[in-house]
Parts: sequence; C-alpha cells; structure tokens
Amino acid sequence: MVREAVPRPEQLVLPMFAVEGTGVRQPVDALPGVARMSPDLLADAARAAHSAGIGGVLLFGVSDRKDAQAAAAHAADGPVQQAVRAIKAAATDLVVITDVCLCAYTHHGHCGLLDDRGEVANDPSLDVLVRVAVSHADAGADVVAPSDMMDGRVGAIRAGLDAAGHEGTAIMAYSAKYASAFYGPFREAAGSAPGHGDRRGYQMDPANGREAVREVLQDVAEGADMVMVKPAATYLDVIRDVRGATDLPLAAYHVSGEYSMIKAAAGHGWLDERQAMLETITAIRRAGADIIITYAAVDAAGWLREEQP
Ligand code: PBG
Repeated sequence: MVREAVPRPEQLVLPMFAVEGTGVRQPVDALPGVARMSPDLLADAARAAHSAGIGGVLLFGVSDRKDAQAAAAHAADGPVQQAVRAIKAAATDLVVITDVCLCAYTHHGHCGLLDDRGEVANDPSLDVLVRVAVSHADAGADVVAPSDMMDGRVGAIRAGLDAAGHEGTAIMAYSAKYASAFYGPFREAAGSAPGHGDRRGYQMDPANGREAVREVLQDVAEGADMVMVKPAATYLDVIRDVRGATDLPLAAYHVSGEYSMIKAAAGHGWLDERQAMLETITAIRRAGADIIITYAAVDAAGWLREEQP
C-alpha cells in the first residue's frame, strides 16, 4: 500500500545488437545472456520481449564495413535498418528505438569523423549523424537515440527528420552521457572501442553533476522528446537532478558494465541475481527515471509480474 517507486515492465527497454546475415547468433562473453543476432533472430527475440511486456527495444548495429566516413551507418541495407524492418513486422506495437552513432562504423572507433589532426570534427559529423537518423526512420524506427555526444546534434537531427517527412519520429537524447569505464563489455559486443585516445573530448567527466543539467536543457531546447542519463546506478544523483530540471520523459541506461558486475557476482554465487537486479532497477526508478534501459529487461519484467501480479 505504501510502496513508492515500483517499476513497471512497460518502462523497461532491452538493448539488442544487430549483425548482418540470417540465422546468426553470437553470444557476447563479457555480457552473459546477451548475443549479437541477425535480423531474423532479433525479430523472434523482440516478439518474446514484447510478450514479456517490456516497452521497447534499443538497437545497436555491429558491422565489419568500417571506413573514415562511417558510410555503412546509413546504408539502407545495414544491420540496424534491416533489423528495424524485421522487428516492426514481427511485433507491430513494440517501440523500436535505434542508437545513432558512428563508432561501430568508423575504422578508428570514434563516435564522430576525424579531422586532419586526428581530432573529432564536431560539425562535419552532424551531417552523417542526420543521414543515419533519417535512414533509421525510413526503415520504421519510432524513436532515434543519438549517443555520439556531438554538440548540436539534436537540433540537426530534428531538422533532418522533419525535412525528410519524419515529423512523427521522436528523439531520445543521450544528454548526460559520461566517459565511463562501465561501457567496457558493450565495446566488446559492438566492436566499437576507440583505436587511439579515449572519448573524454565529447563524453562527460564523471566529476560533473551540474554540467549534466546544462547538457539536458540544451538538448531540450534543440527539440529532444526524451532525455537520458547514462550510466545509471553510479549516477543516481544526476538522475534526480535532471528529474527536477525537466518534465520530459527521462530514461536511465543501466549500462553493460553495471549489468555484467551483477551477472559475474551472481555467477560466483556471491549475489542473488534476481534480488540485486530488481533492487538496482527500483533504485533507478526511485531516483526519478521513467524509462530504464537494461540488458536484464526480459527477466526483470517476469520477476516484476511475479511480485505484482
Ligand atoms: C556508442 C555507445 C556506447 C554505449 C551506448 N552507445 C559506448 C561508448 O560510448 O563507448 C554504451 C552502452 C553500454 O555500455 O551498455 N557511442
């Protein structure tokens, strides 16, 4: 009767990794229970996730086609574009969100294009990001989620989507995305680790809380429909501050390293996986997140239903 923060299954979003081909399923060592899949198998998994009652899926592309311009990121037959079509055909009312970034498609693994000095070139990257977002919307994505952290990308993507006739496609902005060690397992899954340097030039310093609110408000001004804080469990204070700063739907991403820590400890018998995952998700909800992105979404939806039938 007096419980305050109870996450609902439909608030959970499952991240998925798309590769090309058919019948392909490649488990990711560093992310127990997660596999890269081809569009046909992703469609089956999305159908199962939908039956489990979760709200949506967040698609990442994994590609061998890498070059300086990230051309494969906006190819109509790219892994994400194909997966969106397959999932939309299989589970029509599941919300399909796509990650918009260049790091899995550039040979250097950075989230934007590089200039002659090897520095990330903010403005030239925007044009490519817009093309990626439009290609995802063309394939049927409901929401595009830019995670590159270039300045001005939300406004550029909004204008690009509108110009392409996709006024109805929403933008979930990775607004407060920190340069975090907890993305390690993800980079193994996506093959997107930077070949040189790190991402501190465009991702945020973990020491900065006030800057997160500034980043969020900037994305709101540029037309974001939802904002995100990432990682989640180590940034609950940031979630709370952002909650107070905007009324937009707020997503929090319980990232790969945060998930794998619990899986690894549970695998050793050191933690109760179900209790630890549910406690974490509940804490993220309590801090103020409306949407929780987690690799444990399907299991957690089942556990939540058992607890609140
Ligand atoms: C791509 C991207 C990353 C994640 C989401 N989008 C990795 C990175 O920035 O290096 C991390 C997700 C996770 O760790 O689960 N820019």
